[in-house]
Amino acid sequence: MKILVATEKPFAAAAVNGIKEIGQTAGHEVVLLEKYTSPEQLVKAVADADALIVRSDKVTREVVDAAKSLKIVVRAGAGYDNICLDACTQRGIVVMNTPGQNSNAVAELAIAMMIYMSRNCFTPGTGSEIRGKRLGIQAYGNVGRLVAGKARAMGMEVTAFDPFVDSSVMEADGVVPATSAEQMYSECNFISLHIPATPQTRESIGYDLLTRMPQGGCLVNTARKEVINEAELDKALTDRTDLKYITDIAAVHQAELEEKFGKRVFATPKKMGAETAEANINAGLAAARQIADFFATGNRRFQVNK
Ligand code: 3PG
Repeated sequence: MKILVATEKPFAAAAVNGIKEIGQTAGHEVVLLEKYTSPEQLVKAVADADALIVRSDKVTREVVDAAKSLKIVVRAGAGYDNICLDACTQRGIVVMNTPGQNSNAVAELAIAMMIYMSRNCFTPGTGSEIRGKRLGIQAYGNVGRLVAGKARAMGMEVTAFDPFVDSSVMEADGVVPATSAEQMYSECNFISLHIPATPQTRESIGYDLLTRMPQGGCLVNTARKEVINEAELDKALTDRTDLKYITDIAAVHQAELEEKFGKRVFATPKKMGAETAEANINAGLAAARQIADFFATGNRRFQVNK
């Protein structure tokens, strides 16, 4: 079988070597398409692939239509909003993710982002500490839970809101469950977003929630830009001159926001939450193993388009 690794943002070399080794040991051919600059290149490369490994690469209906032999797509990472599940399901193509494999890297970045904003983007002047502040975690999945543990270790009070997770799970971690997102925003100095981009969460973070935050509140987004209502974020930052926003996924109007709000708004130049050698190796190798296992035994654990 031919496994195509298509990564506009390539994996670390050690991860690529590991993927090749796993694929080849299982008797497959591993082909790379890295740093491609147009969707057409992916459409062309996928034509005879049996399996596809991607990161945030867009697996559109057009890509799926072009992939005549495709049987499995593995998103080496957590969020699979970049994959047209309908197109895959209609063709009987299995789609998987690799949950948890890059979570620690993202969680570490979320903590770093809180400190960066508390220290005035590392420019001279008096900042503040995160110890003793209250952090609200929106969605208590793999990343949210890791952020909670690290934040507690740094002396933060941690609250979480997740209607899909039993409050006993949070309580066992020393985290206070919030009864609503509104309550959590009202009480927390920092909010860290860990919700996926879905039709339900799209543009769900806006003026009402943000302006509930206490004085100096800071929103940390290592999730997806799509969950933010940008017009309402702009209005919240305008009306509340104390609020701050830091994101790993630049807003559509990022330059405009930075011009208007200066150091109260910051975005990484390119999404870097999962950009560690460890996360690349964990997620990349897990993807290769899942594909090898799928072809060898039919194992569909981690399938997301059931
Ligand atoms: C994920 O969903 O796993 C993260 O957003 C990481 O995405 P990336 O692999 O494109 O860095």
